[in-house]
Amino acid sequence: MFTKQTVRDVDVKGRTVLVRADYNVPLEAVVAGEGVEGVADTGEAVRITSDLRIRAGLPTLQYLLEHEVGKIIIISHLGRPTGERDPKLSLRIVAEKLAELLPGTPVNFVDEVSGPEVEIAAESLPEGGILLLENLRFSPEEKANSADFAREIVDATGAELFVQDGFAVVHRAHASTSAITQILPSVAGLLLEKEVNALNEVITEPERPFVVIIGGVKVEDKQPLIKQFSGLADQILVGGKIAADGYQAENDQIYVAEDFDINEAGEKLDIGPVSTMHMVEAIQNAKTVLWNGVLGKVEDPAYATASTIIAKTMGENRALDSIVCGGDTSGFVEGLKMTDSDLDYTLVSTGGGAALKLLLGQELPGIEGLEDK
Ligand code: 3PG
Repeated sequence: MFTKQTVRDVDVKGRTVLVRADYNVPLEAVVAGEGVEGVADTGEAVRITSDLRIRAGLPTLQYLLEHEVGKIIIISHLGRPTGERDPKLSLRIVAEKLAELLPGTPVNFVDEVSGPEVEIAAESLPEGGILLLENLRFSPEEKANSADFAREIVDATGAELFVQDGFAVVHRAHASTSAITQILPSVAGLLLEKEVNALNEVITEPERPFVVIIGGVKVEDKQPLIKQFSGLADQILVGGKIAADGYQAENDQIYVAEDFDINEAGEKLDIGPVSTMHMVEAIQNAKTVLWNGVLGKVEDPAYATASTIIAKTMGENRALDSIVCGGDTSGFVEGLKMTDSDLDYTLVSTGGGAALKLLLGQELPGIEGLEDK
């Protein structure tokens, strides 16, 4: 049960609300000359390759708009700039996407996070309008969790209420996740609530049989996860690099992939058909499946076979409580959903590190500071 207040617990009518979103979306460079409207002028055009995080945050914005919010000011980071402006990492491209996804709602953008330009942009924003500020991480004070920086944002925007909806960033203690909660009354958005509830449910009261699939590349991240789920899950299925590197099961509950798709150089780049079928059968017999970490080198379609079969087996089973988490895994599943509308999941988490920390029972500073129910 989510123990923090959400937007549903407060009056938003007529108020200026500051929403922390995680619009840290994957980008790719656009070939010179192709251009993207509104971005090409930087000379370093990029395009968004998955808008999952933008779409996932819409219910909170829609809730606020339906409840006659005054103005919505959105803050986010994008990428890992080194505390300086980087035109490739401007959030302007996200404002354009947001305007597309919210037809009829004015969506403005200002390329600062505080100061007179933001004051003017916030003042001139119509009631029921959205203003997205520039990438927070262009200022080193963001990562330094600076209270002064948070105060400057509040002063420039006139915000009266803070809504944390960037689930994917709540594992960071930054100015926009931590310091800000000491300045404004702070509640959760609907995405944050949904993600925390769904992930908490699988670690506390999953419908059984409960199967956990672990893959991915970062072996050091995955070992604690296997340990955490030992004793909690009915079965743990291990693929990806951790299996390819020879991970040894510590008990009967853990199944480690036994065959692999190997390239000419002898590298194990996907799990093989025997292991895939074993995992498919386990999913078919399960009531809850949590999947973290792709099973092969999915960026090469030749080695995405096992992950595709697992994603389809999960997504086509409407009776299954199916949770997908981790940046690469969620991105992979979202990619498949674009071409296969039959696929549906209980939750495709927007969180990478945040989801992992939550599953490991670790503290999430971005949630700590929100008002208790
Ligand atoms: C993520 O993509 O996991 C979040 O946006 C956090 O980004 P960070 O790892 O750069 O803090």
